[in-house]
Amino acid sequence: MPDKIVLAYSGGLDTSVAIRWLKEKYELDVIALTIDVGNERDLSAIRNKALKVGAIKALVKDAKRLFVNHFIFPALKADAIYEGQYPLATALSRPLIAKLLVDTALEEGAQAVAHGCTGKGNDQVRFDVSVNALAPDLKIIAPAREWGMTREQTISYAQRYGIPVPATATSPYSIDENLWGRSIECGILEDPWAEPPEEVFSWTKSPKEASDEPSYVEIGFDKGIPVAIDGQKMDSVSLIQRLNELAGSHSVGRIDHVENRLVGIKSREVYEAPAAVVLLEAHQALEALTLSKDQLRFKQKVAQEYADLIYNGLWFTAQHQDLAAYVDSSQRFVTGTVRLKLYKGSCKVMGRKSPLSLYSYGLATYAKGDQFDQSASPGFIHIWGLPVRTQARVQGISSLEEKEDSK
Ligand code: ARG
Repeated sequence: MPDKIVLAYSGGLDTSVAIRWLKEKYELDVIALTIDVGNERDLSAIRNKALKVGAIKALVKDAKRLFVNHFIFPALKADAIYEGQYPLATALSRPLIAKLLVDTALEEGAQAVAHGCTGKGNDQVRFDVSVNALAPDLKIIAPAREWGMTREQTISYAQRYGIPVPATATSPYSIDENLWGRSIECGILEDPWAEPPEEVFSWTKSPKEASDEPSYVEIGFDKGIPVAIDGQKMDSVSLIQRLNELAGSHSVGRIDHVENRLVGIKSREVYEAPAAVVLLEAHQALEALTLSKDQLRFKQKVAQEYADLIYNGLWFTAQHQDLAAYVDSSQRFVTGTVRLKLYKGSCKVMGRKSPLSLYSYGLATYAKGDQFDQSASPGFIHIWGLPVRTQARVQGISSLEEKEDSK
């Protein structure tokens, strides 16, 4: 009996061809595993296609709740945004898919797992490193990294073996979708000077078509986790779906990023992430109200580390567990409500409130009821400015004139 391999199967051209190719090249029986992370598709059609193309078994797993609760929300609590732009939708889904591949391989007695990544991107790294961390003995095969076929050759391979070629196979774009966002690359987008054509967008209306009336939305958070929209409690998956629709209809969430890939190249990527943009904006606004200055400063450094670690495929590491423990602790007072205005591509915070707010009206106001003791300020300033006065007396300070002279 041939050995078995579990393939992460999307139903697209590459992974469909991979089913046949793994059989031919390695004489492996392929178990196709399709994971639903919120990329709305016809899952039963995908399952049937896997079987038709030659998989010995085709499994479909709904991982939406797992994805939101164990991957998206931890990243949101950390405010993880890669290079200040990318909310990490694709990157976050990879360790989850790797985990489910490994679990399925163990359940099915397979010796290997496979994924459809090429040898140029970040995703191969995320899959391989995660699988290695969870099951060091499992073999990993990445057909599209090995077969050396161009797009055209892959299509004729498919035609030769009667593998249906989806209409999307001739689209110039490579697209990955899940609840946290949609990633679009290739085609004209490879020219960083070219404006992304309207056709690459599917979750967001163009600002021109978006409503002329703004929408206001209130997001309720409990310990850093969004739990309600406009006062209505919602389950985590529906909450994100709802925000993707609402914010997308206002053109919110379009991102154009020239990013630094882990494999050393710069790549121009376009993203649509309406819910992510709204939630990250809202979450940071609530933290500004409920965390101290020192917590905020330190947490920003953690946010960058956290984003890099997700991007770089290091989810299953002790470093991640340690940072996540800090982030969780930091969220214990991040409870309250943020009000945002969505309008023609912009998402702006209009108000925030919390029962645990550190904002004190009595201390901040210039009006009647001021509790700030202004008479204590001169003493504070005297000590604060002490090192400045000392240095100025002993060493002076370089003047503008000296700088001019040295030119
Ligand atoms: N550049 C992003 C990342 O590394 C997205 C990759 C998206 N993949 C795709 N097939 N479009 O996470």
